[in-house]
Amino acid sequence: MTNDPLIRLEGIKKVFFTDEVETHALSGVHFDIGRGEYVSISGPSGCGKSTLLAILGLLDTPSEGTYTLNNRQVADIGASERAQIRNKEIGFVFQAFNLIGDLSVFENVELPLTYRDGVSKAERRERAIAALERVGMAHRVKHYPAQLSGGQQQRVAVARALVGQPSILLADEPTGNLDSKNGEAVMELLDELHKAGSTICMVTHDPRYADFADRKIFMFDGRVVDEATMHRLRHEEDQRLMRPARAAAAAAATGGGAA
Ligand SMILES: Nc1ncnc2c1ncn2[C@@H]1O[C@H](COP(=O)(O)OP(=O)(O)OP(=O)(O)O)[C@@H](O)[C@H]1O
Ligand SMILES: [Mg+2]
Repeated sequence: MTNDPLIRLEGIKKVFFTDEVETHALSGVHFDIGRGEYVSISGPSGCGKSTLLAILGLLDTPSEGTYTLNNRQVADIGASERAQIRNKEIGFVFQAFNLIGDLSVFENVELPLTYRDGVSKAERRERAIAALERVGMAHRVKHYPAQLSGGQQQRVAVARALVGQPSILLADEPTGNLDSKNGEAVMELLDELHKAGSTICMVTHDPRYADFADRKIFMFDGRVVDEATMHRLRHEEDQRLMRPARAAAAAAATGGGAA
């Protein structure tokens, strides 16, 4: 039983309907993530990475396909139990931080613990401060998110995700707004969480950070592909997008495009 994957995705599709437009964000995603595994997800902007993470984190549901978490089909889990799993088991670092503007830094980080039974106020305080110390933000506990730089907000968001010691951490570009020193500090935190047994799924554009993972997953246009295929498709797409621009530049250079 413990050899079963923690996460199994089979034929996951996600279609968004807005006005008259249908967006196929995920077009049949299959993969497993083992217990305690650390995977990275990379791929071009818009290929469906955040959509996938939202589904993995029980924040959104697929349009089609089966998500099995810990040997249970997620579709069969009721809303309140789902919320409980989200609070107790899953830490989320959102791409857009999603800190709550009306709460101070300290209150934002403490928040996940307030949903838990049996964590005293003193313990919440101790753990929130410890998490903030880990990301070098303990000197800003009384600030509000709007009073912080982008990188500082990101570090607070990482502290909030780690404070509950989640068994699954889903991180969407957790280093996207950080300089290399803070980026590496965050990667070390993830590494420690991983060594302590957590399963980690991290979206990153940065190959250096993807190297921290046990396994790299690549996506293109709503599907999982191998690395070489992703680079090839990306190159082809760049060529396609470049062609009109290059033709215009060539025409301008020969004086033919001035009309
Ligand atoms: N709520 C939504 N309604 C409509 N379309 C959406 C919605 N969320 C995402 N999409 C579309 O789904 C596709 C995948 O979006 P997603 O945010 O998953 O991409 P991503 O890989 O995370 O990109 P990035 O690297 O830029 O963050 C995009 O084409 C996007 O426009
Ligand atoms: Mg995204």
